Amino acid sequence: MSTQVQKYTRNNPYMSRMLVNVLMTMADSEKETRHIELELEPGMEYTPGDAVGILPENRPSEVAEVLARLNFKGDERVLDHYKVEISLEEALRTRLAIGKLTRSAVNAYTKVAPASVPGLETLKSLTLPENRSAAEEYIWGREFIDLITEHPGGITQPQQLFTMLARLTPRMYSIASSQAWVKDAVHTIVRVVYYTSHQRNRQGLCSGHLGERAPEGSTMPIFLHSNNNFRLPENTDTPIIMIGPGTGIAPFRAFLQHRKAHGHKGENWLFFGEQRRASDFLYREDLEGMFKDGTLTRFDTAFSRDQSHKIYVQDRMRENDAELFRWLERGAHFYVCGDANRMAKDVETALLDAIANGRNCTPDAAQEYLASMKKARRYQTDVY
Ligand SMILES: Cc1cc2nc3c(=O)[nH]c(=O)nc-3n(C[C@H](O)[C@H](O)[C@H](O)COP(=O)(O)OP(=O)(O)OC[C@H]3O[C@@H](n4cnc5c(N)ncnc54)[C@H](O)[C@@H]3O)c2cc1C
Ligand SMILES: NC(=O)c1ccc[n+]([C@@H]2O[C@H](COP(=O)([O-])OP(=O)(O)OC[C@H]3O[C@@H](n4cnc5c(N)ncnc54)[C@H](OP(=O)(O)O)[C@@H]3O)[C@@H](O)[C@H]2O)c1
Repeated sequence: MSTQVQKYTRNNPYMSRMLVNVLMTMADSEKETRHIELELEPGMEYTPGDAVGILPENRPSEVAEVLARLNFKGDERVLDHYKVEISLEEALRTRLAIGKLTRSAVNAYTKVAPASVPGLETLKSLTLPENRSAAEEYIWGREFIDLITEHPGGITQPQQLFTMLARLTPRMYSIASSQAWVKDAVHTIVRVVYYTSHQRNRQGLCSGHLGERAPEGSTMPIFLHSNNNFRLPENTDTPIIMIGPGTGIAPFRAFLQHRKAHGHKGENWLFFGEQRRASDFLYREDLEGMFKDGTLTRFDTAFSRDQSHKIYVQDRMRENDAELFRWLERGAHFYVCGDANRMAKDVETALLDAIANGRNCTPDAAQEYLASMKKARRYQTDVY
């Protein structure tokens, strides 16, 4: 890593220009997934497996709504986290998390709110330790705007917002490019989070910013985030198996670009999954091209909603378990990226089954085999 990488951090980000921001999914997809390219200052370096941190801003319309609910104009002066004086509008747009409501924001609100605030007693009861699950239920799907709409009049001084709301934090995105291929740029993929809760249409803070308010030519504060736990094998001849459904494909595009650009000879096997081949096949041209030119030795896809029953990446692993085990025996490194909640666990189970079948051994012995892979850093995950 160059010294430049350390120069730009989450507290001192690089103001990057948006080079490309295009929709990857088709109009009839249930998702909005975008390919993003951001410019880097010469000398900023990353390694395949790293992530890019992006600092978003709150939606101006949401900021305006919060200001209106609080009966502030926005030009009031406040001190930010570094005691620098800025306008309240700027603070709400760039410094404070007005998205997802937290229990600590509710607690702080009840502490400053005058007794005249409607429903204050109910809110206060949510702050009691024995009512924690009711408090969790209350905050679920709610944002700060809901709290001040349902219980107006709690904030009298703009500065109080700094004691109540968390700091706006950057979001991480797995890097989808190799600098052996693209020099002063970083690519990533973002799935824009949209949902409806408590009768309001919502969007994710950073993915919403990237989806709605980051056109090509605009600027975004970013920094590079190293991840030494997700790395190509040192030996460039070592085979790799990559499991990357959905946005989980990102680091594997970087791995493949890297191996292709350097002419590395190690074999590459990719499992990709999404909902529908016609509308959700991310990086289709790139990946099919890499299969054609031999960069990808094997390429298996699982389109979950193209048939009446779901087919997932782990089903493709199971169909190929003998071959998969042969790759492991040849020293292949195994990588998983994407959904942490369900996919990563199911993939691990399928891997354990492939090991147990391949070795004709007990589940415990398969676990030991996996543990030794982990110890040798041959099993790496980047899940979120
Ligand atoms: C190492 C790492 C790599 C990552 N790589 C990628 C990547 O390559 N691409 C990518 O797209 N993402 C990636 N992510 C996830 C990414 O960082 C963000 O978490 C994601 O974009 C959502 O952030 P946001 O600011 O848009 O949403 P936020 O404002 O943080 O909102 C998301 C939250 O909204 C709430 N929510 C969502 N849906 C609902 C619902 N239906 N009902 C109620 N509440 C709901 C949930 O609480 C959820 O946690 C990665 C994360 C990590 C840690
Ligand atoms: N914090 C956030 O709000 C946020 C924002 C963006 C992404 N993410 C997370 O990032 C991850 C990737 O999201 P994504 O939309 O790119 O892809 P995804 O939701 O992981 O979907 C990709 C494919 O995986 C399938 N799938 C669902 N369950 C699976 C399982 N148990 N095992 C294997 N495959 C499974 C999906 O099928 P079906 O859909 O047909 O079941 C789909 O075909 C998810 O965890 C997502 O929640 C989170």
